Amino acid sequence: MNSECNPIVIDGVMYATSARHRLYAINASTGQQLWTFDPFEGGEGGGVYRGVAYWEDGEDKRILYTAGDNLFAQNAKTGELITTFGTNGKVSMNEGLRGDPKKISVIPTSPGIVFGDLLILGAEVSELYGAEPGYIRAYDVRSGKLEWTFHTIPHPGEPGYETWPKDAWKHVGGVNDWAGMSLDKKRGMVFLALGSPSYDFYGGDRIGQNLYGNSVVALDARTGKYKWHFQTVHHDLWDYDLPAPPNLVTLERDGKKIDAVAQTTKTGFLFVLDRDTGQPLFPVEERRVPPSHVSGEQAWPTQPFPLKPAPYSRQHMTEDDLTSYSPVAHDSLLKKFRSLRYEGLFTPPDPKGTLMIPGTRGGSNWGGGAFDRETGIFYVKSSDSPEIDHLRKVSPEKSFSRQSPFNRGKAIYMKHCSSCHGRDRNGNEPDYPPLRNIKDKLSKDIAIKKIMEGSGRMPAFEQILQGSEDALVAFLYDVTTGRPSREEADLFEVHTNRQAVDESPESSRDTAVMYLNVTPFSHFNDIEGRPALKPPWGHLNAINLNTGEYAWKVVIGNRPELQEKGGPETGSEGYGGPIVTAGGLLFIGGTHDKKFRAYDKENGELLWETTLPAVANATPCTYFSNGKQYVAISVAGDEKNPAGSIMAFALP
Ligand code: HEC
Repeated sequence: MNSECNPIVIDGVMYATSARHRLYAINASTGQQLWTFDPFEGGEGGGVYRGVAYWEDGEDKRILYTAGDNLFAQNAKTGELITTFGTNGKVSMNEGLRGDPKKISVIPTSPGIVFGDLLILGAEVSELYGAEPGYIRAYDVRSGKLEWTFHTIPHPGEPGYETWPKDAWKHVGGVNDWAGMSLDKKRGMVFLALGSPSYDFYGGDRIGQNLYGNSVVALDARTGKYKWHFQTVHHDLWDYDLPAPPNLVTLERDGKKIDAVAQTTKTGFLFVLDRDTGQPLFPVEERRVPPSHVSGEQAWPTQPFPLKPAPYSRQHMTEDDLTSYSPVAHDSLLKKFRSLRYEGLFTPPDPKGTLMIPGTRGGSNWGGGAFDRETGIFYVKSSDSPEIDHLRKVSPEKSFSRQSPFNRGKAIYMKHCSSCHGRDRNGNEPDYPPLRNIKDKLSKDIAIKKIMEGSGRMPAFEQILQGSEDALVAFLYDVTTGRPSREEADLFEVHTNRQAVDESPESSRDTAVMYLNVTPFSHFNDIEGRPALKPPWGHLNAINLNTGEYAWKVVIGNRPELQEKGGPETGSEGYGGPIVTAGGLLFIGGTHDKKFRAYDKENGELLWETTLPAVANATPCTYFSNGKQYVAISVAGDEKNPAGSIMAFALP
């Protein structure tokens, strides 16, 4: 299991989550565990998580963090839940969005930001049709009360509403901040990095520019009021979410200092925007891009191209860039390449297959960038990872009847049972019993009899559920009959999303054409799974923000099995984030080769490296404790140690 957690250290104590998503407080000099908290109460746990937030007022010191769809507040000293926060120490993230809180599941994956007594929080939502909207919310750190909400998909009367079809705000979702945000305390401004509108690869039901999808948005941190926005992709069809918080940077122009934000992207562009106005500080051109050939779709005719800095990933490839590990492999790549629709960056997805470069794993991802105030240099890791998308027309309701019994049972459960027994089947005692361990308590026959005939305060379901017994048993007793295909799983998610959003007959769900990308996030590889694009596949970039020019760029990572004998290192895809220390070092992990490296920030010279037990797809932190400086990083779990580890290295 991956751990993307960026640990924090306060007064000699490190707070971090493990790959299984337990919370730990650790002595930052010795690594000794001080306390731990299990939000899953013994359950499997896990799931992406990038860190925790800290707040204090005198002796009241709190750790705020989320697990699943709950926000928790903990006493930082003891690890005990603060029972006056929310309901017994937690607040459900499903309350106060759009869909029925009992049927949706909104899962923050980044820790949010503390401003005064507020915790400002984004979330991860489904990326499929019927997804919840990714509204930004601020909670009172003391009570857990919701203080404000910013509609990332504007409601009627709000600016940006005109960039959508009239009723889209009722059923279109996404536009969420999963990657975190940044705060300018002095200005009282919070900067969001928003993701794509859903569905990510087809927008026939959301014709328009789709604000604030893929936008940097500045809000008044006190009130959540809109200040400015800059959209990096109009009407996104490529899942080009903004993947990391904007960095607060200061650059120099004509002897004057200008406060700005620098936004990294999956496309390889770096957008540098004035912090007060959102105006680009290097020219940005709207250029014509290819139209869609898919029925019902209207790709936006232009997209923004910053003229500086130059993109940090390759955004284009030709036949000459195809690898040739063997003549057969090369021939098949050539054939594939020629069969695809490909007209450069922003070629819309297509049923005949579309090449996408840099691709959703290209450019840079959640590791984001690091900025050196002393020199004005911005550092970012980049990946060149082309992908192939295939759109297919689907009919979700018809496909649903062909789903596995387990999936159908799960859908029935979410619709008819979860309101009492809970989405997670943990019940709500003493009123409603948990069903998680039902197989240890009741035979299948007795359970079905109870369900059909009713029992105590449970109504009888005979009328509506006759004929679905096999599906209910498959779900309640975990009889998984083979893993569903990606397409089945996606269609199932669409089905459950839509149950939660809107069940009224006049909703657009049945009339809209629906396409699904049946090969999402799949690398463009040759017949033996080797990359189709010639190396290098990963770089570390140093960009001077005063001039927009590159200070240096070096290959990072290696895949020895694909390296030519005596040839240069191949570079590697990877999601590690960099940090730069006051002593002039740049630390970064995240490459496939499991290395953790230190570079000279001046020239990109590799100064030190070590091999970790697993990949560290996270951003390190640095701190002083007991007179020593350390660098610590989260390392993924593996079979032997599923919870992963945090490893700390002392600096000489
Ligand atoms: C209105 C609330 C409510 C709904 C909706 C509901 N249940 Fe129940 N369920 C209960 C209560 C209350 C009990 C305990 C009944 C009793 O004490 O006899 C129960 C008991 C059960 C039991 C027996 C549990 C045990 O430990 O003995 C099963 C199995 C069960 N429910 C399954 C379901 C399924 C499946 C659905 C959906 C099709 C469902 N329930 C919908 C309230 C509900």
